[in-house]
Amino acid sequence: MVAVQFAVSLLAASTAAATTKRSSGCSADKAPVSLGERHDVTLSNSNRTYMYFLPTTYQPDKPTPLILSFHGASRTSDWQADLDRLTDPYFNTDHIVVYPQALQYGDTSEFIYWQGAPNATADDVGYVSNVLDELDGKLCINQSRIYATGKSQGGGMTGVLACDLNASRRIAAFAPVSGAFYTGAKECGDPSTLAISCNPGRDDIPILDFHGGNDTTISIHGGPRNGGCLPSIRHWVAEWAERNNLTGKPSEQGVLSSSSSSSSAREYRYGTGAEDGLVTFVYDGVHVNHDWPATFNNSDNWAHQSGPAAFNASSMIMDFFAKYTLPDGGSGDDATSTGAASSTAVQTGSPSTSTPSTTSSAASGSPRSGSSVKTESLVVTCVLLVFTLASSGFSW
Ligand SMILES: *[C@@H]1O[C@H](CO)[C@@H](O)[C@H](O)[C@H]1NC(C)=O
Ligand SMILES: *[C@@H]1O[C@H](CO)[C@@H](O)[C@H](O)[C@H]1NC(C)=O
Ligand SMILES: *[C@@H]1O[C@H](CO)[C@@H](O)[C@H](O)[C@H]1NC(C)=O
Ligand SMILES: *[C@@H]1O[C@H](CO)[C@@H](O)[C@H](O)[C@H]1NC(C)=O
Ligand SMILES: *[C@@H]1O[C@H](CO)[C@@H](O)[C@H](O)[C@H]1NC(C)=O
Ligand SMILES: *[C@@H]1O[C@H](CO)[C@@H](O)[C@H](O)[C@H]1NC(C)=O
Ligand SMILES: *[C@@H]1O[C@H](CO)[C@@H](O)[C@H](O)[C@H]1NC(C)=O
Ligand SMILES: *[C@@H]1O[C@H](CO)[C@@H](O)[C@H](O)[C@H]1NC(C)=O
Repeated sequence: MVAVQFAVSLLAASTAAATTKRSSGCSADKAPVSLGERHDVTLSNSNRTYMYFLPTTYQPDKPTPLILSFHGASRTSDWQADLDRLTDPYFNTDHIVVYPQALQYGDTSEFIYWQGAPNATADDVGYVSNVLDELDGKLCINQSRIYATGKSQGGGMTGVLACDLNASRRIAAFAPVSGAFYTGAKECGDPSTLAISCNPGRDDIPILDFHGGNDTTISIHGGPRNGGCLPSIRHWVAEWAERNNLTGKPSEQGVLSSSSSSSSAREYRYGTGAEDGLVTFVYDGVHVNHDWPATFNNSDNWAHQSGPAAFNASSMIMDFFAKYTLPDGGSGDDATSTGAASSTAVQTGSPSTSTPSTTSSAASGSPRSGSSVKTESLVVTCVLLVFTLASSGFSW
């Protein structure tokens, strides 16, 4: 009995420690880094670079949420920051934004692409892990609130992370825009039934996906491209709904409740109740091309002379991310050794609004409780498991 109580208190203590785990970078004594600016960095022990941005509200001892934003093929971190405008206080006042940089495999920028592209060979998932580890040492990050978004093949990279055993346990929610989700298949066949290999390390992965009805670069219908195969976008999204056990047809609604009658943009929300919208597909509209949807001029809709869209994707992405938090304080632990100890992202906020709100005050609340522990041996097993989790590092 004493042993049981001891084990239970240990379990409670370990669980509390896990949920309050702080970045080693959290310290009021940290040298000040200039806020509201972009910082270019070369990863230590590597020739890889990335850029990060600290909001003006950043405080060195306050755990701050972080967004990874991946540029498209042939583009740069700077290009992506100009496109998503997540460094603009209109969209984001309180999240760190990190803009990773893909490798260039040939003489020109045409050969810049992420893991997942047919010709890419780098371990970009490992690179992203290293970027997060490095930032965790120098910034104060809320490890339960790391998110990923990206454009085009950077949307593809976002999908690669969502499907990765370890990365999916460290990133709370995913929002690809006009994504190129190469499957690696040799024979493309029917893009609406193409097999998609995906091995996420937890259940209930939040996905918000955008695609234009007139995307002339990455067709919404999928098909062969650059020696690879792209699934149709609706198939890719439906596969996520199925992986998350969200059965039934998605509910359909206009993206903007006020002016949706004149807009062909639609939101398709999978799931019901607490899981409503856990997987959401936004059809940008019939005229929207290979764009980052915005109601104003940006480099995409300018280049394609398309749109503008009926909504700002960046506002919807911020609202979506604000709803999801990893309950265990973030986990980069080896999923293979922790078995069923899944880190389910829970919905913590009120339903999404389409207002350009950038605050995340809605994101609070307690995670769903885990399974109840009934016997002494189970408790001891749990304690060992929690210790294993707590003592392993954060690299995935
Ligand atoms: C980094 O090194 C790799 C392998 O040596 C090389 O392929 C790549 O082009 C380099 N990247 C940069 C940004 O210099
Ligand atoms: C989906 O259902 C299967 C079978 O009931 C179960 O094994 C799996 O854990 C469920 N996945 C999710 C994400 O709930
Ligand atoms: C990738 O390689 C294939 C040939 O293997 C080529 O057809 C294609 O153009 C290449 N794509 C890019 C973006 O380099
Ligand atoms: C789709 O984009 C092409 C190329 O920009 C343009 O010529 C065409 O008019 C667009 N179609 C629609 C329906 O917007
Ligand atoms: C639209 O944005 C593009 C790219 O940022 C810029 O080059 C162009 O001048 C802008 N056009 C207008 C009409 O503002
Ligand atoms: C989109 O963002 C711009 C500012 O960046 C804003 O002026 C505009 O009202 C927003 N559109 C919608 C529909 O919220
Ligand atoms: C991270 O954010 C969540 C949701 O806002 C909050 O409950 C949690 O306490 C934060 N974590 C830390 C370490 O501050
Ligand atoms: C996950 O991380 C562990 C090390 O923590 C590593 O052994 C394993 O290969 C990783 N799995 C994947 C799919 O990257």
